Amino acid sequence: MPKERPLWRGAAFRLCLLSAALFLCLQLGMRRSWCPEEKSRDAAAARAPAPSRGAEQRPGAVAAGGGRRRVTYVRSGRRGSAAPACCAPGRRTVRWHIELQPWASPTPSLNYEASRFLKYISTSQISCEHMNLSSLKGYSETTKKPWSVCLDERFSLIHRIRSKKCRLYSLGLGNDDNQFELSMANSGCEVHRFDPSIKSAHIQQGRHLWHHRLSIDWRDPNPAIAAHKLHSNTKKLGTVLNEFGHQKIDVLKADVESAEWKILENLILEDVVEQIGQLVFEVHIHWPGFEVSGNDSTVVRYWYSLLRELELKDFRLFHTYKDLSKPQMFLKKEAFNASSCYTLSWVNTRWK
Ligand SMILES: *[C@@H]1O[C@H](CO)[C@@H](O)[C@H](O)[C@H]1NC(C)=O
Ligand SMILES: *[C@@H]1O[C@H](CO)[C@@H](O)[C@H](O)[C@H]1NC(C)=O
Ligand SMILES: *[C@@H]1O[C@H](CO)[C@@H](O)[C@H](O)[C@H]1NC(C)=O
Repeated sequence: MPKERPLWRGAAFRLCLLSAALFLCLQLGMRRSWCPEEKSRDAAAARAPAPSRGAEQRPGAVAAGGGRRRVTYVRSGRRGSAAPACCAPGRRTVRWHIELQPWASPTPSLNYEASRFLKYISTSQISCEHMNLSSLKGYSETTKKPWSVCLDERFSLIHRIRSKKCRLYSLGLGNDDNQFELSMANSGCEVHRFDPSIKSAHIQQGRHLWHHRLSIDWRDPNPAIAAHKLHSNTKKLGTVLNEFGHQKIDVLKADVESAEWKILENLILEDVVEQIGQLVFEVHIHWPGFEVSGNDSTVVRYWYSLLRELELKDFRLFHTYKDLSKPQMFLKKEAFNASSCYTLSWVNTRWK
């Protein structure tokens, strides 16, 4: 009997330790499962459009939240997969609107906005010596419009064409002039044409050219509506890139009859432009464009601000072309000696 007492006492002591440990575990476990929720709530708050919030307030708030909770977050493997995409390193952060540039004059005036904007789209920011696709084989001179790409050695496009690693995405709406696409395909580039007027969902023409019945939009469609609309399929460019498994587009060409402004805005807000080497866009200025609102000076300021965002991302305009064959109209008026239509080419100087 006396032998058993220390044994019993030892067991009681162990039981005590065990329950203490269990209690600690439970406490920790509960805290861990709360933390990700706190974290994502914070992240949501940081991402939410908060026009009234001072810009200087933002990074501080995010850092304070992120720094303390990151450790807890990483440890809670159970919820790890629920990590908001915004917080993983190298992921895109979602912005809700572009930064508007100050007005061109102390009091808003269409004259000042228009002359600033027209001067901007008529001035190259960087020189490009080689833009003539004739240097590539398979190009014929029947092209009506100058879809200019920069083939200078200091930019990667020419090297990617030579090593047959280039990729062109071309957005259109029932255009029949495919000369540019064909010549890029003939020089070995992988070419994807997106056009809602194409007859079947996907058609391959030759070894390098694909036609997709898709229109590129600035938002994902409402799934309820999309289900009812046969033969119509709209997607954001970022969504298409993900679905095709493409990381990069060497050249993005767009001829989309005034949808270019909102598409460009979407590419900037979602940072998809960073995956693009060169942009060749036809821009239309005879009316504000789809879903662009406000008085005339507001619209022109918005267009200008969009293009300045590209410049901020180190895109440089190397070619501009004023189409004199189109009506010479600017926001429904014959004014400012402007054309309704310009073709602009940019090179992403950050792009490798
Ligand atoms: C256009 O609208 C903006 C913002 O609403 C306003 O500040 C500006 O005065 C208006 N411009 C003209 C020329 O009416
Ligand atoms: C492009 O080059 C070809 C021959 O190399 C020339 O005939 C043509 O005029 C050039 N086009 C332009 C727009 O410079
Ligand atoms: C109007 O535009 C045309 C074509 O760009 C140009 O040749 C002409 O000099 C311009 N006229 C004025 C008055 O600026």
